[in-house]
Amino acid sequence: MADMHYHDYLQLDKILNAQLPESDKQNLSAHDEMLFIIIHQTYELWFKQLHHEVDAVANTMNKPALNDNSPELQTVVHRLNRCVTILRVLVHQIDIMETMTPMDFLDFRDMLRPASGFQSWQFKQLEAKLGLKFDNRHGKEYYTSQLRKEHVDIIKHSESSSSLLELINTWLERMPLAPELSDDRDSFWQIYLKSYEGSLAEAEKGNITALEEIFFNSKSQTPNPQQLSSAASRAALFILLYRGYPLLQQPFQLLNCLLEIDEQLSSWRYRHMNMVHRMIGTRIGTGGSSGKDYLKAAADKHYIFREIAQLNSFLIERRKLPALPKEMEMRLGFVHQ
Ligand code: HEM
Repeated sequence: MADMHYHDYLQLDKILNAQLPESDKQNLSAHDEMLFIIIHQTYELWFKQLHHEVDAVANTMNKPALNDNSPELQTVVHRLNRCVTILRVLVHQIDIMETMTPMDFLDFRDMLRPASGFQSWQFKQLEAKLGLKFDNRHGKEYYTSQLRKEHVDIIKHSESSSSLLELINTWLERMPLAPELSDDRDSFWQIYLKSYEGSLAEAEKGNITALEEIFFNSKSQTPNPQQLSSAASRAALFILLYRGYPLLQQPFQLLNCLLEIDEQLSSWRYRHMNMVHRMIGTRIGTGGSSGKDYLKAAADKHYIFREIAQLNSFLIERRKLPALPKEMEMRLGFVHQ
């Protein structure tokens, strides 16, 4: 067998011959179109890697019994952290795009119409895999209006499969360590409720109703049902509060990764939106949307893990945390005797 060669292994013949500027075809050479193509291709390659990581994480989380006491959870956290690092790079890549001026872009912009990043099915499928529901999308059907049928099918398939957020919900629900719900005044959650109530300013008293709705209700009455159940929300809050205990460190890292993913995605959306504003002002996008206004509305609405971020409204100071029973402290520690 012939030795493997770098060029063949990476299929460079295909990759390096995949930049075909429209401006060259039309003999109206526009220097920056090469950058424009390469940057989009790079994004799509990183999207592919993000799918690879998120699929692996979902496969592990989807096991009937993810073993929290094994390397599996550590691997999940490790891969999600990798996603965060990739997303950070994607945010920074906008710096390179912004070396193109609006006039440089105008040299070839009209030749692209109606192509647009809006047709990136990998991006939309990623949102769906993470947990963005159709009902929570800005403009509902509009987001698939420019996609090819086969790409819509791919996204719809992901929307109807268990999203990462749903898998996290199931995992949290079966967390064995969170204290049980009880009406007993001396029970953990009743003591917690009292302590939380005491920490609120007058203007925040409405938070108690929200707390009861989120943590103590088995069925949400809100028109837009929460994706995290009450049991899952209690487990997540418990993890956030007692994350210092060894057994809760990885679960805490996992929740933290999800917030970081949302934050990086949101940073990307805002940087992209500002770049669009700078590049085309208030003109409509090549994909036909209202441009900046569409992107702003999607950025505001498309937080995926907002229910986890919202849990941080219900924290209390560490020194006021209810002490845990000795037996529970033992279970959360390294040593079992
Ligand atoms: C000169 C640079 C760019 C401009 C002027 C621009 C403009 C726009 C506009 C106006 C939209 C809204 C849809 C439309 O009407 O077309 C859009 C959406 C989008 N663009 Fe860009 N874009 C640029 C670069 C990029 C890059 C480098 C990426 C990387 C993949 C990208 C990915 C996307 C995605 C994923 C959407 C859909 C966002 C959503 O639906 O929330 N764009 N872009």
